[in-house]
Amino acid sequence: MAHKAYIKFKNLLPASLKEALSSINQRFFARRTLQRKYGSWFEVDWRKKFRTMSDEEWIRAYDDVWKNHHNDCLDETDSDLILGAIAKTSQRTQTPISTVLEIGCGYGTLAIAMTKAGYGVTCLDVSTEALRKAEERAKGENAQITWHQGFAENIPFPDKSFDVITCCHTLEHVKDLSQTVNAMKRVARLAVVVLVPKQRFRLYAENYHTQFFSTQEDLIRTFGLSDYECTEIDCIEHEGEFQGEALFYVGYI
Ligand SMILES: C[S@@+](CC[C@H](N)C(=O)[O-])C[C@H]1O[C@@H](n2cnc3c(N)ncnc32)[C@H](O)[C@@H]1O
Repeated sequence: MAHKAYIKFKNLLPASLKEALSSINQRFFARRTLQRKYGSWFEVDWRKKFRTMSDEEWIRAYDDVWKNHHNDCLDETDSDLILGAIAKTSQRTQTPISTVLEIGCGYGTLAIAMTKAGYGVTCLDVSTEALRKAEERAKGENAQITWHQGFAENIPFPDKSFDVITCCHTLEHVKDLSQTVNAMKRVARLAVVVLVPKQRFRLYAENYHTQFFSTQEDLIRTFGLSDYECTEIDCIEHEGEFQGEALFYVGYI
């Protein structure tokens, strides 16, 4: 509640003042505030280090995240938006959609919603801890999902093996963006559906973001597909972990 009020207040400020306050915070306070808030498991210098981290270090870091973290960014409103995009893809292409690969499934919110909507869902996440938690949650909700541990940069499935690929609040976390995007386009038969926060680079933040999308064009250029829809969405009132502005992209293969 206090966080939402803070975001709304910040949005009322002129852009130049917001920028100046953010620079002061980044320069003098942010690093220490994060250390104090999260303690030793949180890697405050992630943006300085991520390019040189090994796969094992990456997995360990995200397992630590999921040991200390218990919710998804995405909420029911986003799941509804994504289910609508999948239905629309089916109408546009006159093709029934049966299989979806969810990349960076986290705690499984979207995967469970898609399974309940009748799709055959496979989840891929780098964190075994996230997968363990999501699987336990899905069992409790009687949702049959196939789980895979692995990297979005190197999706372990053949070409065109899923009708749709979803990737929500995850593209901003990958180490290699172009490798990830190529892998997504390779395994998708009809469409890729992507949700990312709309944001500019900040060195210190409460997350392990590595990629930054501040305009719709950033996302459109990243995928390079000629047939797409891209919109901005306001998630300030959302109930998940994320409150802010986001970019929603559907690219048709
Ligand atoms: C912010 S969470 C998003 C979870 C969920 N999709 C949501 O909307 O909240 C990012 C997820 O990406 C996973 N992740 C990070 N790097 C990854 C990578 N290179 N490949 C696959 N998953 C990755 C993390 O383990 C985490 O579950």
